[in-house]
Amino acid sequence: MVAPSILSADFATMGEECRAVIEQGADLLHLDVMDGHFVPNLSMGPAMCQAIRSHFPETFLDVHMMVTNPADYIESFATAGADNYTFHVECDDDPRMLADAIHAAGMSAGLAIKPDTDLETMKPFIEHFELLLVMSVHPGFSGQAFIPEVLETTSRLSELIRDDQHIQMDGGINPETAVDCRDAGCDVLVAASAIFKKSDYAECIASIRGQ
Ligand code: DX5
Ligand code: ZN
Repeated sequence: MVAPSILSADFATMGEECRAVIEQGADLLHLDVMDGHFVPNLSMGPAMCQAIRSHFPETFLDVHMMVTNPADYIESFATAGADNYTFHVECDDDPRMLADAIHAAGMSAGLAIKPDTDLETMKPFIEHFELLLVMSVHPGFSGQAFIPEVLETTSRLSELIRDDQHIQMDGGINPETAVDCRDAGCDVLVAASAIFKKSDYAECIASIRGQ
């Protein structure tokens, strides 16, 4: 699956940008939420999720929380229509308790890991999540270069998951780096700049998928 990250979309024409990628092959939309603490940037909140949900009732909305206290925002994103809520294993909250709270709010749960964090940190929690996100850049900004070392983490992770769990990779994904990501066992690829900075969204989405 290919998940365009709207972080690199034109915010002044967000509805048109979303419609374009949905019509041109996106499987879901990825919303990057940043709090200025967990990462040194600010991006968007539940109001953006709510606005997109109201215009695109059928689209799967995948929220990536780069925030220090993800427990605080579960209810507001569930109310705003998010389908999946991913937070970082490096945050201040307890991953096991959060997985339960996310499920109770009616969303699927994702657990993310930064490029420099040991996979061992994630291991005790894997079974409780529908999605495992391996960051392939240091979170905070679009347009960074792919960190190839995370492919090994991904291969090891792919040995640990069930058939009904997904591995997502996020950061520096383009048609070239996507080849290695797919080979390492990723089935959900996020891309921001590679898609939204191109004029032909359809061609880029298809080539990230490997078509
Ligand atoms: C980074 C975000 C990514 C980012 C990807 O902190 O989590 O989703 O938008 O941007 P690109 O695809 O440009 O690396
Ligand atoms: Zn992201």
